[in-house]
Amino acid sequence: MIAYDIPFNRAYTTGNEVTYIQQAMQQGHISGDGPFTRRCQAQLEQITTAHRALLTTSCTHALEMAALLLEIKPGDEVIVPSFTFVSTVNAFALRGAQPVFIDIRPDTLNLDENLLAEKITPRTRAIVVVHYAGVGCEMDAIGQIASRHDLPIVEDNAHGLFGLYKGRPLGSFGALATQSFHETKNISCGEGGALLINHPALVERAEIIREKGTDRSRFFRGQVDKYTWTDIGSSYVLSDLLAAFLWAQLEARQEIQRRRQRIWETYDRELSGWASRAGVQRPTIPSHCTQPYHIYYLLMPSLEARQRLIEHLKSRRILSVFHYLPLHLSRMGKRFGGQPGDAPVTEDISDRLLRLPLYAGLQPEEQQRVLEAITAFTP
Ligand SMILES: Cc1ncc(COP(=O)(O)O)c(C=O)c1O
Repeated sequence: MIAYDIPFNRAYTTGNEVTYIQQAMQQGHISGDGPFTRRCQAQLEQITTAHRALLTTSCTHALEMAALLLEIKPGDEVIVPSFTFVSTVNAFALRGAQPVFIDIRPDTLNLDENLLAEKITPRTRAIVVVHYAGVGCEMDAIGQIASRHDLPIVEDNAHGLFGLYKGRPLGSFGALATQSFHETKNISCGEGGALLINHPALVERAEIIREKGTDRSRFFRGQVDKYTWTDIGSSYVLSDLLAAFLWAQLEARQEIQRRRQRIWETYDRELSGWASRAGVQRPTIPSHCTQPYHIYYLLMPSLEARQRLIEHLKSRRILSVFHYLPLHLSRMGKRFGGQPGDAPVTEDISDRLLRLPLYAGLQPEEQQRVLEAITAFTP
């Protein structure tokens, strides 16, 4: 195992995480839905303008809740990008749905809205969008197509907390949206997530599904005198110990975002000359999108150049990583009928994309080392 001097990600802590965890212990409420959970949820509602936010054990679980809430059944079709994390699709496959993979735009790497209408059939039940790197999908066009066909949108907003599309927060467009607080995300509690509910009619059932299929949330609010099994569900509630950790991060969001913005902008500025000489594409951020500085990536001219740059950085003890492999070409994707050529942009981008170290604690001299190593490389 190589010991990297500059890892791809290093968990950033604000210093208050332990203080708040101790507070949760002193308060004696370390299971879910305690005071820290309520604070985090209220903050998420404020940031995203979502009607309701519920903390969950992961973004994966929030996506599973979305599939349950939309009553996805065997034989239903769900439109999903192939260029995404497995959970975006798996959550719906778990309910028996057939994923219908859609390609991405070559600029933002988001679902290509121009291909959406032709993917819709009488069996389509939902459209799932992923805001890659927290840069908004073309929600105006996607929203119009979805409402024309009366289809719900689910936003997998794992990357996109603080992102805006035409001034409106990501996570507020879909009937449902999901967040991740995994260690690699801007705001983290190790493992965690949230379901955002913009459709008020779904709130009550979401609370039940999240609480093992019981009306325990209503019981805690004093609305019923005992709680019972009322629906299907599972255990998707985050411990208040983790919510305490998350609260420290949410409180420090401005500092975290300021640091990430400085690092992202330094990469983009310092690599611009090298990238244009070397035929390397930098990220595209449309002027109507405000991004949350989640990922800095390079699109190398070829797979071979990408692999050589990874090795070159590795020889200088810097870890850079590729990202999603096309899901339609995975073993499961092929079982759903995926074939080479189904999503040509995804297949091409997946080979050429490289992510650079980006975390709030990356020091200027460390970033300088990364920049010097990259600009000394010829693709
Ligand atoms: C787009 C996307 N969706 C979902 C997830 C799953 O998040 P979690 O690890 O919180 O389940 C990830 C993980 O990084 C992701 O990139």
